[in-house]
Amino acid sequence: MSEYEWDNQIEYLTQTRGLYYNDDYLEFLIQKVWKIHEPVKMVDYGCGYGYLGLKLLPMLPKGSSYTGVDKGEALIEKARQILAKLPYPTEFIREDVEELDLAEAYDVAICHAFLLHMKNPETTLKKMIRSVVHHGKVICFEPHWSANMANYRFEGLEQSSVIPLGILQKLYEKDCEQHGKDGNIGIRVPALLSQLGLKNIECRVSDKVNFLDPTADQAINEELFNALRAEGIGHPPGDREKTLDQLMQRGLTADEAKRQYEAELLLSNEFSISSWLTYAPNMKISFGTVVK
Ligand SMILES: C[S@@+](CC[C@H](N)C(=O)[O-])C[C@H]1O[C@@H](n2cnc3c(N)ncnc32)[C@H](O)[C@@H]1O
Repeated sequence: MSEYEWDNQIEYLTQTRGLYYNDDYLEFLIQKVWKIHEPVKMVDYGCGYGYLGLKLLPMLPKGSSYTGVDKGEALIEKARQILAKLPYPTEFIREDVEELDLAEAYDVAICHAFLLHMKNPETTLKKMIRSVVHHGKVICFEPHWSANMANYRFEGLEQSSVIPLGILQKLYEKDCEQHGKDGNIGIRVPALLSQLGLKNIECRVSDKVNFLDPTADQAINEELFNALRAEGIGHPPGDREKTLDQLMQRGLTADEAKRQYEAELLLSNEFSISSWLTYAPNMKISFGTVVK
């Protein structure tokens, strides 16, 4: 067991990445939206096990290269192992992004589910921008938790009884106030990119809507169910008093904490492989052109 928490999350990462985008949508972004028709040098900040490299390299023009940066030793090792089996030029840097300043050497700086873990995302974005050449691109795939939570539907359950949106929205805002990390960073990135001088800024939303269907092929259903569980859906909330305390420390009133606890408990009791569930993760994909 590594001391670095993300090194122990490889299974969670590999199980859940498939929930967000269909491959045809990523191809569409590369070809029609970003119009990448020549080989590019891409750097992925907080690359984890190399998810974006694995997905994008086969879709990018031949000759494109991928550099992955991450703090996790086990993650970088895993990324090296996976990408070594494929015929693409890759490089990996194990480093804390807060300690790192890459030279201006890349056409595209990209990140996925990374800025939400940064206490100071502006500083990180500045680094990403500095590592990109004039007219290069910065592309950020980041979550927007409030939209994410609004995008579940459990057949047979009243949505507000299992996902109290107002309480969750408050919880995310309080967490951000207390720790600086913003689970809704995805919807903020366009403004940050503009404030940092990028041009032609646009924002898209992830396309995938997952549908858990008990009448579908069992193996497919099981894989999706496991991914949804790994995403955190239907986890039992744990000890009641401890959970209530934690929720109140995070800024909820006693009533709100009780309501949130009950919602989590109800969902954990009701959600099973036989549920009909529709879920759209609602990642925001923001991008802009670097002008130096
Ligand atoms: C949610 S994971 C996303 C990983 C990958 N981008 C993906 O989507 O599969 C967040 C990643 O950010 C990395 N990370 C967090 N803080 C970091 C830092 N200060 N420097 C480098 N990597 C960092 C973690 O090690 C982890 O791999």
